[in-house]
Amino acid sequence: MYSTIAIEGSQFGDEGKGKITDYLANKADIVCRYQGGNNAGHTVEVNGIKHALRSLPSGCFVSGVVNVIANGVVINPFALLEEIDENFHGHENDLKLLISDRAHLILPYHIALDEAIENNLGDNKIGTTHRGIGPCYSDKALRLGIRVGDLLDKDYLLSRLKTVLPVKNKELIALGKDPIIIDDLYASLLAAAERLKPHITDTSVYLNAAIDDGKKIVFEGAQGSLLDLDHGTYPFVTSSSPTSISIPLNTGIAPQKINRVVAIMKSYMTRVGEGPMPSEQNNEWGNTIREKGHEYGVVTKRPRRVGYLDLVLVGYTCKITGVTDLAITLFDVLENVSDLKICIAYKLDGKVITNLPASASDYARCVPIYKSFKTIPEFDKTKIKVFSDLPVEAQEYLSFIADTLHARISILSLGPDRSETVVFNEVI
Ligand code: GDP
Ligand code: IMO
Ligand code: MG
Repeated sequence: MYSTIAIEGSQFGDEGKGKITDYLANKADIVCRYQGGNNAGHTVEVNGIKHALRSLPSGCFVSGVVNVIANGVVINPFALLEEIDENFHGHENDLKLLISDRAHLILPYHIALDEAIENNLGDNKIGTTHRGIGPCYSDKALRLGIRVGDLLDKDYLLSRLKTVLPVKNKELIALGKDPIIIDDLYASLLAAAERLKPHITDTSVYLNAAIDDGKKIVFEGAQGSLLDLDHGTYPFVTSSSPTSISIPLNTGIAPQKINRVVAIMKSYMTRVGEGPMPSEQNNEWGNTIREKGHEYGVVTKRPRRVGYLDLVLVGYTCKITGVTDLAITLFDVLENVSDLKICIAYKLDGKVITNLPASASDYARCVPIYKSFKTIPEFDKTKIKVFSDLPVEAQEYLSFIADTLHARISILSLGPDRSETVVFNEVI
């Protein structure tokens, strides 16, 4: 057992991070979201009740757990307050929430710019969630960002708006959008600040002290490694680094403080938005999985693209992020599915490769090479306590994954509810 663990999506997002984080939160003191914003849609299901979380960490339904939103996250203050109301109406005191004073704010002009840029890209659009994520992280890098801590100082907030808005308004007008009225935005931010104030703090100081005190912390990533700004399928990526290797920067703790890295991996592939996906099955097989796995976006409700599990992609992300443990999710969906395959290599221009080409144009030409597996028969999920309780066909599929990725399967998820989880190795 370990005291600090990282949760990262190992594919294109929606791997079941919310479900696994909530499960592990029951054994932890703190859950800390480390990047992304309300582009995330993390589903937590407890006793048959589904909750869709966007910015709140997935430990928020576990009593006593402190939920931290770290500096690497981008926060839409209005959407966050709505999310708190949706989930904690009338019992806000049950939510123990700390928000980093260094996290950047997603403001209405970021959302308008996200939409305008996508519209201008036409057929080459990224397929973003239109939540203003890219423009907000861009402003952070441009030093034009407004941070959560700025909400605590009325005069400074106004001076930042006066510095930033003229630039943003020029961009908005150039892209055919209405400019933002400073007084309106300032007034709404002051109102939001009143409610957010009690939660705002230096979360790096808090996390370091908690680690020194031996507290158990789950660091929860959003999105997936293949949407990583540096290591993903650029330009079809998000604007942050959803991998465990970004945790030190995104939370303000040292790299050696992370004990284990748990990759959440769906038993097959899905992707929302544009970009190459060599093992995509835009056919009956894909439709069957989409319906069995309810593969529709939590945030945008878009049908997810479905494909065979691609271990070239997951192998690449496991290597760069130092994955030690796997949590394999949606395994129940594969029951009775015929024509089961795993992608083990690609053919690119006649050559067999087992790495991820940097260029999206090369990647789009990759043809998958598959290994076939026997159909996994229906089995009683409540009877699975140890690996050998699984049908032999399931063991073969899972062992192949573990051997290829050089990581142990510590958690197997056999349904959306918190209770439908089997642990082979305790990770926290
Ligand atoms: P996240 O973004 O990584 O948290 O994942 P999402 O919540 O976007 O998508 C995962 C979906 O799969 C949600 O609808 C979950 O309720 C559901 N889910 C998670 N684990 C399992 C599982 O083991 N089996 C089934 N059938 N559904 C699951
Ligand atoms: P969770 O945390 C799946 C995708 C979008 C788009 C690209 C860029 O639920 O796994 P953005 O709005 O981030 O600028 O969009 O990234 N994307 C996700 N896909 N799950 C997510 O989050 C995603 N967050 C962003 O569809 O292709
Ligand atoms: Mg999701």
